[in-house]
Amino acid sequence: MALDDIIQELKFRVKIEDVVSSYNIQLKRSSRNLVGLCPFHGEKTPSFNLYPENNSFYCFGCHAGGDVITFIRKMENLDYVDAVKLLAQRYNIDIPESTKDKGLSNLRNRIYEANKEAARYFHRKLYTQEGQNALNYLKGRGLTEQTIKHFGLGYSTSITYDLTSYLNDKGFKNTELIQANLSFESRSGRIVDRFIDRIMFPIMDLRGNVIAFGGRIMTDQKPKYLNTSDTPVFKKSNNCFALSFAKNSKDGYLILAEGYMDVIALHQAGFESAIATLGTALTKEQAILLKRYTDDIVLCYDSDDAGQNATMRAIPILRDVGLNVRVINIPNGKDPDEFLKTNGENGHIKFKQLIEKSGNDIEYRLQKLKNKLDLDSPDGKVAYLTQVSKLLATFDSEIEIDVYARKIAAELSVAPYSIIQQIDKYKQKDYKTKIQQQRNKNNMEVLVVNDSINPDKKTHLMASNAEEQIISCIINNPDIAGSIISKFPPEKFITSFNKKIYECIVRRFNDKKEFSVMDISGEFSNDENSRIIKIVHNYNKNCNPYEICNDCINVIDKENDKIAFSGDNLSNKSEEDVQKYIDRLKKQKK
Ligand code: CTP
Ligand code: MN
Repeated sequence: MALDDIIQELKFRVKIEDVVSSYNIQLKRSSRNLVGLCPFHGEKTPSFNLYPENNSFYCFGCHAGGDVITFIRKMENLDYVDAVKLLAQRYNIDIPESTKDKGLSNLRNRIYEANKEAARYFHRKLYTQEGQNALNYLKGRGLTEQTIKHFGLGYSTSITYDLTSYLNDKGFKNTELIQANLSFESRSGRIVDRFIDRIMFPIMDLRGNVIAFGGRIMTDQKPKYLNTSDTPVFKKSNNCFALSFAKNSKDGYLILAEGYMDVIALHQAGFESAIATLGTALTKEQAILLKRYTDDIVLCYDSDDAGQNATMRAIPILRDVGLNVRVINIPNGKDPDEFLKTNGENGHIKFKQLIEKSGNDIEYRLQKLKNKLDLDSPDGKVAYLTQVSKLLATFDSEIEIDVYARKIAAELSVAPYSIIQQIDKYKQKDYKTKIQQQRNKNNMEVLVVNDSINPDKKTHLMASNAEEQIISCIINNPDIAGSIISKFPPEKFITSFNKKIYECIVRRFNDKKEFSVMDISGEFSNDENSRIIKIVHNYNKNCNPYEICNDCINVIDKENDKIAFSGDNLSNKSEEDVQKYIDRLKKQKK
């Protein structure tokens, strides 16, 4: 089956709502559409819309949109062909060999391959003479043979060009290895290994590709960990360690820890839902990623000050994408790895108890506030009430606010009403700034004349709107395409991006191919597809598409006339032509 046939097959079989819900996005029906929380920008009130009638989506918050293939491209960070392949696999559609290999030569795939070979090489080294120390180190930290295999842990030897020359022999070019960040050019000009004499932790993406490594030194030297820098296949702030395993866990929550070793120890102790951010503070992108797999996070950072500060910073980021958060308190300043090791055989039970005892993030934050203040003094009380009110004012749920306001009122023996009033005050302030921000944003949108997708739009606003209407009418009513195309060729389109869409439609029409959003999305980038969906959905079903198109053609014709007779172009027009133009203008005025 050729790519085109696969797409026709997908068009009939795929339901965008099924694909989207497989990413833990809850959808609600709203007239003919479905709405949910946007997986691309993170939000608490839904602005992500699905249109089952043409398998497309559009977010009114971040303006991401497209067909179902574009959705997969964005979600999985894949190019078009790979996204089609992934969908085809999910729907058991045969993929021809020739399509399978297509693109294998591109850089990203070469980096995946190099990383895979490297991971295997590092792992094998553990079981050689050179790797004996490393293996002993891992065993000394309590890891079993099975765990070491499961995570594919390895060892990079102390020979500075060990991996580089191994991969060179396997056919990888130095430029590829440098782009993969496995090698670099030393000052002497020699290409050498990036990881030397370290325990290697492969980092995998959700499809099981090795995308990066963390390397731990076995002594007290610094840096303790060396990580792959960002490469064409890896962005640290967008990935989590062990998520490829944890996403299959049936626990219903994800345990978010700080370090590689914590996660590995947790998995070994039977907590397969443990993951970690990669040595950075939690980012919004990571929170959005986690929301795809769960609604509940159990935070279990180290119990030292750094870990506690990181906890306080992570909570609002997680809440802001709609995740529920609980916080584990590990006793005696330990990290999860140390806690499990200390408890030996009882590790699982003891840690399970910590999870069960964990309070939600609100209790955690209230406790932190309390710890800083002396609640027996009137000043301390007032300060606490003020800060608590500010905190509660950031919550959307009235129930949550009510419950905690009452609880705190009882604790401090003050009237619940006074706290609620205070919260309302902060809420109003908060609301006002939000409204103002929205207003500024709206103003900006009007003022922003630079449209990066269709830069010509700013100079030909009316014409480009007319062009968009024509595109929308034709895609929504394929039957009218023939008559419109025959009287209005693509050359007449003025703005470049709209022309590109129209040309694509015309070409497919002439080839007797279909031109729904899903048929044409392969020819456009993700951002371009977002715009196409916006254009296609800006359509009024109650109007007659012929009439609209004819009106729009008139608008564009006039603009073309104006361009043809503008100052620069006027000199090469005959007097007769100019007179005709003036007559046309006069007729319009009447
Ligand atoms: N980290 C890093 N670079 C460093 C130190 C830490 O990238 N120089 C990241 C690593 O991802 C590490 C995490 O931060 O796993 C947490 O650091 P730490 O608690 O020191 O590491 P552990 O995983 O607990 O490692 P170990 O128990 O082996 O000391
Ligand atoms: Mn540790």
